Amino acid sequence: MPTAQFLVAAAHSRDFPTDQGGEVAFAGRSNVGKSSALNALLQRKKLARTSSTPGRTQQIIFYGLGEGEQRVVDLPGYGYAKVPAAVKEQWGRLLEGYLHDRESLAGLVLIMDVRRPMRDFDRQLLEWADYFDLPLHVLLTKADKAKKNEARRTLEFLRADLASRFPEVSVQLFSALKGTGVEEAREKLGEWLGL
Ligand code: GTP
Ligand code: MG
Repeated sequence: MPTAQFLVAAAHSRDFPTDQGGEVAFAGRSNVGKSSALNALLQRKKLARTSSTPGRTQQIIFYGLGEGEQRVVDLPGYGYAKVPAAVKEQWGRLLEGYLHDRESLAGLVLIMDVRRPMRDFDRQLLEWADYFDLPLHVLLTKADKAKKNEARRTLEFLRADLASRFPEVSVQLFSALKGTGVEEAREKLGEWLGL
């Protein structure tokens, strides 16, 4: 992976970087481990801010890769109950607008907790990606917190569950803490971004 650097934290689409080149966005419910996954994949421990407080990432955060026109994007988490309704609505609009309009978006990484997959908005995001013809890759993260055979069983169950409705979607186990699945996920990013 080329070296990543912070570009911009955008609360409105007018703040997005120019829509050219290629981009991969990380989505998932609040506190699931999106920012941690991003840091593990980019080999930068403290690039994206992580926190045990849900709702830490409230804007769309863009990181540039190397010198080129490739970016990775940390999306605000969804499903955090304590956020006021008006703020939630604003997030929803920002997220939907981004997914709808972003030409350079080459793929979505959907992050789910291996112990609690397919919650809240996860299925809706799968539907959106399918509708917009956007490649999607699922990371079942925090694999270090599950028993090995349980993680394996969840992986196989989810693969089978998604295969009929979303045949293009790929799924893997991941742990930002232990580095599980980092290489596999990097390959997917490289494929989408032409790295
Ligand atoms: P928001 O930005 O608030 O939506 O959260 P996020 O999805 O970016 O989650 P973040 O990366 O901040 O991680 C949330 C918490 O989960 C932190 O306490 C992390 O240390 C922890 N965490 C993330 N990934 C892993 C993992 O693979 N294993 C373990 N054990 N903990 C993890
Ligand atoms: Mg975050």
